[in-house]
Amino acid sequence: MATDAATTNRAAAAHLGEALRAVGYAEDGIIELLGEDGYSTGPEDLPTHARRLPETKLATTVRLLFLGLAVPTAEAERALGRRAVEALALTGFAEVDDEVVPRTRIVPVEDLLIAADSYSRGIEDPADYVAAFSPTSRLCDALTPRPQVDSALDVGTGSGAQALLAARHARRVVATDVNPRALEFTRLNAALNGLANIEVRSGSLFEPAGDEHFDLIVCNAPYVISPERRWTYRDAGGVGDEISERVVREAAARLNDGGFATVTASWVAPDAEEPDERVLAWVDATGCDAWIFVAWGADALDHAAEWNADLAGDAEAFAERLDDWNRYLDELGVRWISEGAVVLHRTGRSRPVVRIDEVDQEEIEAAGDQIERAFQARARLAELHRSTDLLDERLRVASKLRLEHVLEPQPDAPAVTSASVSLDDGTFSAVDADPDALEVVFELDPDLTLAEVLDEVADRLDLSGEDALRLQRDTLELCRELLELGALQLA
Ligand SMILES: C[S@@+](CC[C@H](N)C(=O)[O-])C[C@H]1O[C@@H](n2cnc3c(N)ncnc32)[C@H](O)[C@@H]1O
Repeated sequence: MATDAATTNRAAAAHLGEALRAVGYAEDGIIELLGEDGYSTGPEDLPTHARRLPETKLATTVRLLFLGLAVPTAEAERALGRRAVEALALTGFAEVDDEVVPRTRIVPVEDLLIAADSYSRGIEDPADYVAAFSPTSRLCDALTPRPQVDSALDVGTGSGAQALLAARHARRVVATDVNPRALEFTRLNAALNGLANIEVRSGSLFEPAGDEHFDLIVCNAPYVISPERRWTYRDAGGVGDEISERVVREAAARLNDGGFATVTASWVAPDAEEPDERVLAWVDATGCDAWIFVAWGADALDHAAEWNADLAGDAEAFAERLDDWNRYLDELGVRWISEGAVVLHRTGRSRPVVRIDEVDQEEIEAAGDQIERAFQARARLAELHRSTDLLDERLRVASKLRLEHVLEPQPDAPAVTSASVSLDDGTFSAVDADPDALEVVFELDPDLTLAEVLDEVADRLDLSGEDALRLQRDTLELCRELLELGALQLA
């Protein structure tokens, strides 16, 4: 039962959200004011950005809540109204006196507003620091399928970002965390965005979910493999990759039939040549179809250096930390560490299909639809008796594709020596292709079977006998790969 104070705070957050939308506080407006790199703003960029901003209501709001700079109270009231400034004080997002001094940054993410603790101060951050929408939050969001569902679960909700993203397409969402400050941010963020279908529960990992099952599960819990227990948002405990293994196993166990789970994860290997054996074993044990995305891999030393980069300015402390981490990883026999995400799909079929791909975390965009198509296509492909059965199917292009030919000078005339096709959205995956098979993809027509399209292209290229068979083989291989990636769809 919410107390009076809690009800007042949420009403204040709801009013603040309306005021922010009224001044156009959104991704586009911020990029227009701060430039394309505006979203990667750090404390070092503040002097430049502050001087670039014009004198408008939106600019005042960006100064205050995006950059996290103090603003005279009269100016903040002119921009957002007196009630919204009072709301900043009531929610604890800012301290208000002659100036409004922000304690929180509010960052637009898609069409949502997400409040979290202000810029990290590295080692000085308190243990219960609540991180903003980070690159791994983005990865988790981008890899989450988003069909309309009845129920969703967000484990390790932090600011509540993944829960809020799910609340737009789930009837109800359960959001869990061990950090009470995170749960309070989640409640306030739900109110800030006018969302009333998020239930917040306190507890570790899946324990607050009890025996419930869900149609969608998201979890960007702390997966960093480290000997430390410094920050709740980064260090979840467990030995080595134990937390990731638990998250994969327990998410799968709570998925309804037809449901999807997207979890960020990390896995170790005793041999850098075989980095993914453990994650493959985890997903095999779930009985779900799975798509594993590898975003990053490093040996023990690079892993330690990357996660302790905030100490790089203090050579002695940095060296000491590297030794601690190295010793820990060495004792566990870890030679390689991978980070990425695992997407699970519970289908109830007896032979699950598992695939593993690399993904560029910087490049990825919303890939949920692509992932749904990919799982559907893989299930259909698994039912085909022979690979040539695909010739009887009708295929359509389902993603934005970039087709590339490499033209090289030759003694007589230049010739195409290689080709590739890459997705120009979603996971941005790329596939090497035979140049003639690429012609077939270019000509795909959902009214024709693949065999009919192949015949047309073979005629046009004047191919017969062995050459026509080679084109058929290369085309089947390419189309299968593009179907598995969700770039093509079976009509
Ligand atoms: C990396 S943050 C992710 C926050 C948010 N889900 C996002 O994607 O931006 C990890 C979150 O997991 C929470 N956490 C840490 N240990 C946990 C545990 N054992 N059970 C549940 N949540 C935990 C932390 O408090 C933190 O909020």
